[in-house]
This record gives sequence, structure tokens and C-alpha cells, in this order.
Amino acid sequence: MSQNTQMPERSPHRRRYLMSRPEHFTVSYSINPWMHPADPTDTAKAVAQWQALYDAYIGLGHEVELIDQAPGLPDMVYTANGGFVIDGRAYIPKFRYAERQPESALFAEWFASNGFEVVEPEYTNEGEGDFLLAGDAILAGRGFRSTDDSHREIADLFGREVLSLTLVDPRFYHLDTALSVLDPVVAPGAEPTIAYLPGAFDDESRGLLEERFPGAIRVSDEDGAVFGLNSASDGHNVFLSPRATGFIAQVAERGYNPVTIDLSELLLGGGGIKCCTLELRGASS
Ligand code: ARG
Repeated sequence: MSQNTQMPERSPHRRRYLMSRPEHFTVSYSINPWMHPADPTDTAKAVAQWQALYDAYIGLGHEVELIDQAPGLPDMVYTANGGFVIDGRAYIPKFRYAERQPESALFAEWFASNGFEVVEPEYTNEGEGDFLLAGDAILAGRGFRSTDDSHREIADLFGREVLSLTLVDPRFYHLDTALSVLDPVVAPGAEPTIAYLPGAFDDESRGLLEERFPGAIRVSDEDGAVFGLNSASDGHNVFLSPRATGFIAQVAERGYNPVTIDLSELLLGGGGIKCCTLELRGASS
């Protein structure tokens, strides 16, 4: 750890998350380069690894809601794609690939029965997989899944600035595989710390990130390749892959507490910690 006397106080903010126990997890189709249906998967192992993440959230004081995974929808464990929620309003996903499209109605139903305002989308989008709240603005991924039209749709819906970022590497097909917001709550107008993998973005998007987030952590290709950026943070504890050793050191240097959770089995579907975690932002969080 560096001898940085300027190290800021990092305070945890209690989060409310939606997760789905991967009881029906497998890889039966391929919609991203990580998925190889011919290779074996171990559902019990996926459940055990997922449980470790769930337990870590609960153990650190977070609230976790659950949605049942439907048989035949193995990707439902990646609840980050189940919506994008701010101020108690849940914008529902419209999945790019047919294999995941039936998930939308199930997430919509869950939100409706849990007191959220449900907003049906007009345009293709994959929820918090591609939309990340960073301070006052929304960072929005495009290139593989969510469309530019959906970026406009959320700008109108939430009345916030949307910064569109173009993903160029098929391994990092959702924004949350290449960029992580480490401060879920900041004072109005303040810059949250973000971390990102520069090589996952086109030149213009990299320029935008440099301009808007001069204090960002830039993560190495090695850490990106093990899904290091697919992490969750409460502003103090950063939940991340044990394989992302460089990124672990970087967050510790910035005063965060790295909490490592290995989701190797879920990586076979192309997902990690953040993919399994959807933020439920109520009217006051
Ligand atoms: N197999 C899933 C897909 O390709 C993985 C989704 C990962 N989720 C995420 N938020 N990055 O859609």
C-alpha cells in the first residue's frame, strides 16, 4: 500500500440488490465469446460460488432480494440485465437475443409485485449490464447489446445526462464487464471514482472518459481479461475477482477494502460478480 497521506475516508453505503440463485445454471447456447455449450458446467458449483457472494453482501450489511430462476432461462442468474432502477422506477430490459427475451416479463412481474414503478422499454437494452449510474450522470454502453435509441430513452425517462460509450472488444460486450463505479453515492456534482479497461473502448469513448473522470483507475488487460472490472462496490468494500491481482492492489491503494469472491463457474456463461447483482435504488437511495 502506498504512503498516501491524502487517502480519503471511504464509507460504506448500505445497498439493496436483486439476485437470482443459479439453480438452473448451464451453458446451452452461445451469445458471447465466453460461452461454449459443448463444455461441461457444474450447477452445484455455480450455486455454491453464488452463495458466497450472497453471504458476503449480507455479512457486510446489505439487503438482498431474490427472484426465482426459471428453468430454461440459464442466464437469469445475471440479474444486472434485469432492469435499470433509479428512484423506485424500473426500466425493463428488451434483450438482443431471443434466448433471453422471456426474462423481461419475469423481471417486470417481480418489480410490479415489489412496489416498483415498471417502465416498459421501446428499444433494445440490457439493463444495468450496459447502464451504470456514475454520480449525476448515466454511463451507457453501446456496440454489442444496448442501442443508441435506448440511451435516448433512459435520458428522457430519468432526466439525466447520458454519456454513451462504445465497446469494441467482443469479450467485453456489456459496459459492466469493462467499467466499474466504485462510489455508488457521491455529493451532487462530485466525481465518483470509476475504474475501466481502456482497450475495451474506442478512441472517442476513451477520450470522453479521460476528460470526465480524470481520477479514474485504469485497469490492466490482464485484470480485465479475468473479468476484474465486473465488480460491485458499496463505496468502501469492493467485491471483485481474486484473479484480478493488479486491480485488487489498485483499489486498496485508493483506500477501498477489496473483498474477493471467485465466480469461475459463472464466468462460463460470460458473467461475474456485477452481472449477478442488480442495484435496487429506491426513492431515497
Ligand atoms: N450469458 C449472458 C449474456 O450473454 C451473460 C450476461 C452477463 N451480464 C452482465 N451484466 N454483463 O447475456
